[in-house]
Amino acid sequence: MSTNDNDILSPKGIRTFLIKPQLGDNIIIFKTLPSTNETAKKLAIEGAVNGTVVIADEQTAGKGRLGRSFFSPLESGIYMSIILRPNFKVENSVLITTAASVAVCKAIEKTTGIKPGIKWVNDIFVDGKKVCGILAEASSNFETSTIDYIILGIGINFNTNSNEFPKQLQNIAGSIYKENTNNVTRNMLIAEVINEVIKVVENIENRQFIREYKNRCIVLKKDIFIIEKDRKIAGRAVDVDENGGLVVQKQDGTIITLNTGEISIRGNF
Ligand code: BTN
Repeated sequence: MSTNDNDILSPKGIRTFLIKPQLGDNIIIFKTLPSTNETAKKLAIEGAVNGTVVIADEQTAGKGRLGRSFFSPLESGIYMSIILRPNFKVENSVLITTAASVAVCKAIEKTTGIKPGIKWVNDIFVDGKKVCGILAEASSNFETSTIDYIILGIGINFNTNSNEFPKQLQNIAGSIYKENTNNVTRNMLIAEVINEVIKVVENIENRQFIREYKNRCIVLKKDIFIIEKDRKIAGRAVDVDENGGLVVQKQDGTIITLNTGEISIRGNF
């Protein structure tokens, strides 16, 4: 992938691979942005339509979950935010990140043949390293209990060399580049991500993606730590419920369900 000199992001290059090419009319590409999620949010407030996609070749202030930053170097990653205006109920918006992780895994697998796994909630892993993170931000209307918009931010390390990652990330972060995938372009993968996201969002209420999520979930049946602000709680991940919550059996035998937060696999990561 890194060896492909033609890997220049373009709406036209992406549109070629879209199932619904008309979506390609709403793809906006920037050379550099602080954060595609922030730009997408501004556009959503200004009225951008469902399916608008904001992409940047580089982010200077890429945002991660839990107030973290997302390393977003020039031209070696995919940094994209999809504006969604779904007409499902507000309570279903929590399913978006779970559904999106399945969509991104499928897109990576279709284009590269690599089979990624998911670390709850929505980190995508290949060969024990995180290759993609997802940050969904929603704005809802309290009076009508409807969703105004969701910004679905997806960051994929495409062909970042391991020594390019900051020191503190070098053992944790990886990229999807493999020698046998160097005919895959970022345009192709972006299009496939859009295809899969649109499909899963259209069918979100039937929750079929939960089964696939479980199949790909790398923490199930593993001993884990639930990471809280000032302590770690040991337990075992036993299931994923129909809302994407992680069902954990604590060491005293009690069962709890996590709906958000962070875990680590014990003796790993
Ligand atoms: C995480 O791993 O904590 C989530 C990372 C999400 C990164 C993506 S890159 C595109 C979009 N714009 C951002 O500022 N963040 C998301």
